[in-house]
Amino acid sequence: MLLGPAEFMRIEIPREFDRLGAVRIYGLQKIYELDAGPEAELPGQEDAVVRSLPAEAIYGVQREMAIVVPVRGERLKLIEGVLVGIPNSCLVIVVSNSPREPIDRFFLEQESIANFCRFTRKQVVIVHQKDPVIGAAFAAGGYPELLDERGTVRNGKAEGMMIGTVLARMLGRRYVGFVDSDNYFPGAVNEYIREYAAGFLMHGGDHTLVRISWHSKPKIVEQALYFAKWGRSSRHCNHALNRLLSHHTGFETEIVKTGNAGEHALTLELAMSIRYATGYAVEPFHFIDLLEQYGGAIPSEHGDMRRLIRICQIESRNPHLHENKGEDHIADMIRGSLATVYHSRLCPPGLQQEIDAELRQGGYLKEGDSLAPVHVYPSLDKLDLGQFAAVAREAVERRVAAPASAA
Ligand code: GDP
Ligand code: CO
Repeated sequence: MLLGPAEFMRIEIPREFDRLGAVRIYGLQKIYELDAGPEAELPGQEDAVVRSLPAEAIYGVQREMAIVVPVRGERLKLIEGVLVGIPNSCLVIVVSNSPREPIDRFFLEQESIANFCRFTRKQVVIVHQKDPVIGAAFAAGGYPELLDERGTVRNGKAEGMMIGTVLARMLGRRYVGFVDSDNYFPGAVNEYIREYAAGFLMHGGDHTLVRISWHSKPKIVEQALYFAKWGRSSRHCNHALNRLLSHHTGFETEIVKTGNAGEHALTLELAMSIRYATGYAVEPFHFIDLLEQYGGAIPSEHGDMRRLIRICQIESRNPHLHENKGEDHIADMIRGSLATVYHSRLCPPGLQQEIDAELRQGGYLKEGDSLAPVHVYPSLDKLDLGQFAAVAREAVERRVAAPASAA
């Protein structure tokens, strides 16, 4: 059998980082080559500003990684494309909140994924967000905050991400990464996940967060394709986070480029201790929570200051294209992400006024309205994992669409 030589990914070494207390935010790292070929320089021979990472090492990280795919009523073709892009070495956890009536979309998703797994021998766990067994498992684990009055998990992407995180922990993974199910390009999904692994390889540590910044987002402008770099929402969100950081360090900065990056991955250690906010606040709130808990500027509520928190930001090369969900979506996103900064205990009154003025000017806040507070769940550390697993195991084993169980 011919064994192919290892390929490499060539990536920039971060040039700088900003630090607040125990949190280090590294500058954006560029990808120079998705595949630098088997003849890439051996470590030590290469230029000091780039590193080539061996494929074996990337696979090594991916074998310890779960990829959580939140789904709500996406088209089956899109979901399948996303699965095509996820490297086989990762465990996939699909958390679906798709409607079961009048058509049982979840059933269709399960069927299509099981079929896909038969051809690929991919390991996929698929659960429904409203599965009563999952709800009961959170109750048994002493985490009722996530549940509604019927005892099932509440609606929302963040809530789905939290289910995925706990399942990844229960199934013994070391890393958890997230990819949306409405991505049009399997190649982009594949790239994000290789970059998650690259981030963990380059930064190491048990408390590392890797976030992806898209190189571009194609749009139609005046009947031609235009590759926009920053969406409106990310511009506002990054600016507010940078202003917050500058206020506390005393140095103006533009280091934050991934304030609302949906594509991100964490060590499970960090994923279990960080707090999740609901709605569009979930991604930027990760920054806020880490800065509040580990920044040292205010007393920490649940963070352990002996940890070193690393936030790594990587710029992906594939354009990002997902389902267009309209204008309202963007306004909600801007309000949701700025609310995390505005309502943070770290936010000085001057910055609050600035954010308020910016929102009114943009027409995102009307006369008399104020920015709604952010709903935040307690850290998953308080969940008793043994109790959770004892109940959830049945739901998970029943639904593993791996070849062995897809008879
Ligand atoms: P955007 O990409 O941030 O503009 O938001 P989307 O509406 O595309 O949602 C992001 C991802 O989360 C998509 O893959 C959705 O299918 C998924 N999603 C949205 N709402 C829910 C939910 O309530 N539960 C779960 N599990 N996934 C959701
Ligand atoms: Co989307």
